[in-house]
Amino acid sequence: MADVTIHRGLKEIYLDRTKSSYIDGKNGKLYYRGFNINELANNSTFEEVSYLLIHGELPSKSELAEITKWMADAREIPSGIITLIDSIKHLHPMDVLRTIISALAAFDNNLADESMDANIERGLSITAKAPSIVAAHVRLRNGDKYIPPNPNLSHAANFMYMLYGREPDLMDAKLIDKDLILHAEHGLNASSFTARVVASTQSDMYSALTAGIAALKGPAHGGAAEGVMKQAQEIGDESNTAEYVNNLLSSGGRIMGFGHRVYKTADPRALILKVDAKNLSERKGNPKWFTILQSLAVCMEPYEKKGICENVDFWTGAIYNLLEIPDDIFVSIFALARIPGWTAQVAEQLNNNILIRPLLDYVGELDKPYVAIEERK
Ligand code: CMC
Repeated sequence: MADVTIHRGLKEIYLDRTKSSYIDGKNGKLYYRGFNINELANNSTFEEVSYLLIHGELPSKSELAEITKWMADAREIPSGIITLIDSIKHLHPMDVLRTIISALAAFDNNLADESMDANIERGLSITAKAPSIVAAHVRLRNGDKYIPPNPNLSHAANFMYMLYGREPDLMDAKLIDKDLILHAEHGLNASSFTARVVASTQSDMYSALTAGIAALKGPAHGGAAEGVMKQAQEIGDESNTAEYVNNLLSSGGRIMGFGHRVYKTADPRALILKVDAKNLSERKGNPKWFTILQSLAVCMEPYEKKGICENVDFWTGAIYNLLEIPDDIFVSIFALARIPGWTAQVAEQLNNNILIRPLLDYVGELDKPYVAIEERK
């Protein structure tokens, strides 16, 4: 109605300035706090990247040892939380994670402290506990016992230990560690935006992170990895891929794990994970999923010139599947990796806060006569 430009989906709109991460969507590059993602994926650990995102600099040796121990000590979840997980174990793992992160506020003895230090500590504590929540849920719904965390294992290895009940192979654990690093932060994606909106109202950290998880759940965002594996299963064999892709695209469907709002060339995270998926399928002697996904990528090559390329979710499903991780926790793994990124962005928002409150252009009618209920048809 007003003479305004509408930016549907807020496409290409800058909300603020950030030092958390930089996506060069034209050249397919990603940086966390100035560090190239390839360097971090090859050399760092999830604990170190969590520190980097939250504090803005790489930790010293002693700072890394301190945060690693702090996070290991913070993994345990209260027995009240385990009981709550048990009572909602029939839900999708993302519904469980969303509910439980909100419920963790009930166990925070320092809830009234809204200082930056307290909020950052909350973000880190939730980062530490999230894998315990996801693993506890999987075990309880399978009729297995909750396995307490092992403080001697890394964040990634402990997650696998709590999930399977046995210590993981070191290479498998390193792969999950790398996967967590690659998912930890990514500009103003829908879930980080959501977390910032909640923080901007001066709500609290639990609310902001719970809202982030809610936004991440959808298939257009974090839910895509599960969708990729579903499509790979529907294809069943590489000989069916071309027909599957033609049928899906001609009926207006989308190939999961392709396309991105910011990258108009290959997502650098997908390039890293493709090599890992290939190596893992060789190491596990199970090339099926890699072969099907590879054939899917070949069928999608003509769309590259439209900027529709593989995104981070395309190869993760195959990796998780080869590591015997259930399909419906793929998005939960994305969530537990993204918590340091959300925390860093919530802190950034709060450091220079302004209420996020855009406008909608009203295009409905005005001054309609109010008709009494008895007189309405
Ligand atoms: N398969 C087929 N066509 C596609 C796809 C796809 N995966 N993605 C985009 N397109 C087409 C779309 O049909 C449209 O074509 P046209 O202009 O002819 O109508 C064009 O590309 C632009 O699509 P859009 O929806 O306007 O672009 P967007 O920037 O709003 O969408 C997206 C980004 C991620 C929602 C979309 O690419 C998509 O739905 N992808 C599949 C789901 C997926 O993999 N999501 C994970 C995103 S990466 C992880 C994360 O950060 O959350």
